[in-house]
Amino acid sequence: MDLLTPIIILNLVAGSLAVVLVIANKLFAEYGDVTLDVNDGEEEFVVEGGSTLLQAFTDNEIYIPSACGGQGSCGFCTAKVKEGGGPVLPTEEPMLTRGELIEGVRLSCQVKVREDMKVEIEDKYLEVEKYDAEVISTRDVTPSIKEIVFDLKEPETIDFSAGQYVQVQVPADGDTVDRAYSIASKESVHDRVMLTVQLIEGGLGSTYLHELEEGDELEFTGPFGDFVIQDTDATIVGVAGGVGLAPLRSIVFSLLEKGVDREIWLFYGAWTREDLYYHEDLQELAEEYDNFNYVPALDSSNPDWDGEVGLVTEVMKDYLQKGEDMEGYLCGPPPMMDATIDLLTDYGVDEEDILFDDFS
Ligand SMILES: Cc1cc2nc3c(=O)[nH]c(=O)nc-3n(C[C@H](O)[C@H](O)[C@H](O)COP(=O)(O)OP(=O)(O)OC[C@H]3O[C@@H](n4cnc5c(N)ncnc54)[C@H](O)[C@@H]3O)c2cc1C
Ligand code: FES
Repeated sequence: MDLLTPIIILNLVAGSLAVVLVIANKLFAEYGDVTLDVNDGEEEFVVEGGSTLLQAFTDNEIYIPSACGGQGSCGFCTAKVKEGGGPVLPTEEPMLTRGELIEGVRLSCQVKVREDMKVEIEDKYLEVEKYDAEVISTRDVTPSIKEIVFDLKEPETIDFSAGQYVQVQVPADGDTVDRAYSIASKESVHDRVMLTVQLIEGGLGSTYLHELEEGDELEFTGPFGDFVIQDTDATIVGVAGGVGLAPLRSIVFSLLEKGVDREIWLFYGAWTREDLYYHEDLQELAEEYDNFNYVPALDSSNPDWDGEVGLVTEVMKDYLQKGEDMEGYLCGPPPMMDATIDLLTDYGVDEEDILFDDFS
């Protein structure tokens, strides 16, 4: 009883303080209506002050990349704040370069709209749409990766460039959070979107998507992203690991379907044979198209496997020539991408000709 009394008193004090804070926030943190000017008057809204800039955008149907769902950890939701917005917060600093800070670039999921603001975002984001979609099929393509195909209901079609991604709205505590997933289907398919999703234990978005069934509905925004093929004649060197195959599948299938005659390599690393997905499809493409070379590599040898074994970067050395005119398109675990960047730069590829999609 002697020990319990101070604990109960402490709890009562903490509880009362919390109530006072909520009331104080209601009474004094009223910012009223404020005006948000986007891209020098291209869009202008009156919003209720107090929400984040990202939320104000979303409420007014402006969708910008926000892959971590507003946690301040992806650094994707940048906007240039020209007026208003207050000082840069400690939660923004690690995600912004010195140059960006000088230019007034901010993380819109951290900035609060408390006064009239003038902001600038890339014009292309004003074209991004929100889609209502319905699941038309799901299947396991590896023990941990599911392929999910969605039929687009409203709008009925999407235009995107192979390599881009969408942001799925994942239900969370009565609200939604966004998670990014690369479009794995071909550019020529406009009425459907196919995603491949790796299940992350305890993961909000991946669990939600893995539990979807035929007929279920969901919403996503898009397309987003600059992981797209540059318009040059250089040899395309695609390097994928695990579920990182998703954007590269779309890239390879789209380029070949369009009759692009550039030389294309796809190096694909996985742990075991059952972790390789779309393997037969890619083999068939490599047989059909002289300019497409598919090189899967497993982590360790296996009696059922007569292909390459070992780190993708070691395997690549047997196929690529130093000094060749190449561009790299990488998507996979960060250590694999770092090693590939080192290898390609050593082979004479300029860093700006190496694009990568970082899922982490
Ligand atoms: C541009 C882009 C495209 C992407 N495309 C795809 C795609 O096509 N397919 C796909 O499956 N994913 C893709 N991702 C990753 C995806 O957006 C989610 O981050 C991933 O599904 C985990 O989200 P979650 O909500 O399930 O986990 P969360 O609830 O966010 O995280 C749960 C826990 O898992 C940890 N965690 C999160 N991600 C990983 C990971 N990758 N490995 C191990 N632990 C992790 C977290 O630290 C946390 O502790 C992409 C990401 C980006 C930025
Ligand atoms: S940092 Fe990810 S949404 Fe803002």
